[in-house]
Amino acid sequence: MQVAFEKFDVANRKHLASFCQWDANQDLLHLRYPRFGPEPIHIRSKDEIIARYQGTEKEISGMYMIACKDKYIGEVSVDINHPQLYCKKHKSAWLGLAICEPTYWGTGVAQQALTFIEQIAKDLGAKRMELGTFEFNHRARRFYEKCGYQHIATLAKITYWQGRYWNDIRYEKNFETDSVAQ
Ligand SMILES: CC(C)(COP(=O)(O)OP(=O)(O)OC[C@H]1O[C@@H](n2cnc3c(N)ncnc32)[C@H](O)[C@@H]1OP(=O)(O)O)[C@@H](O)C(=O)NCCC(=O)NCCS
Repeated sequence: MQVAFEKFDVANRKHLASFCQWDANQDLLHLRYPRFGPEPIHIRSKDEIIARYQGTEKEISGMYMIACKDKYIGEVSVDINHPQLYCKKHKSAWLGLAICEPTYWGTGVAQQALTFIEQIAKDLGAKRMELGTFEFNHRARRFYEKCGYQHIATLAKITYWQGRYWNDIRYEKNFETDSVAQ
């Protein structure tokens, strides 16, 4: 299954429609966004999403829609020197990846998206890539581990889900000692 990548454009109605639909998907929320307490996560309105991403081309180094045939199935992004980084020593890239249509999980498209965004990060001069995933997200953890990412830190009690707080597991890949994803 082959995918293509389109630079996210908040003015593109099809991009925006998929983005808004995924942002409100209750099955994905706990995997994608931290919840700071028992109160539900605020679901952003279309106008809030437009306001957030309009004019952010400089702030967000690269955010791409993942397309399969004529359908968008997820998004992948990279930010250089993002404030959330655990390791700020080198020029670092912060990864965001979500295949938002679960029927595409386990098909290899996530690995294609990761390979694509790693190249973008390298082209932007990053020496390493970092990401965080919640400790209960065993699927994502296994995915990143098999793609050559190493656990570098555990940030305590970052998100609330199913009545308790959970840790954020930070992973990195060092591009200088890169190993090919299995
Ligand atoms: C995380 C994500 C990108 C991974 O892509 P994917 O296509 O599902 O990944 P893969 O199927 O290639 O790999 C997942 C691995 O986890 C394994 N797995 C699945 N469920 C699991 C579980 N409950 N516990 C442990 N491993 C599990 C799979 O068997 C597979 O390993 P294998 O290839 O050795 O068999 C995708 O699932 C996704 O976008 N999920 C929703 C959003 C999200 O969680 N994003 C990440 C936030 S950091």
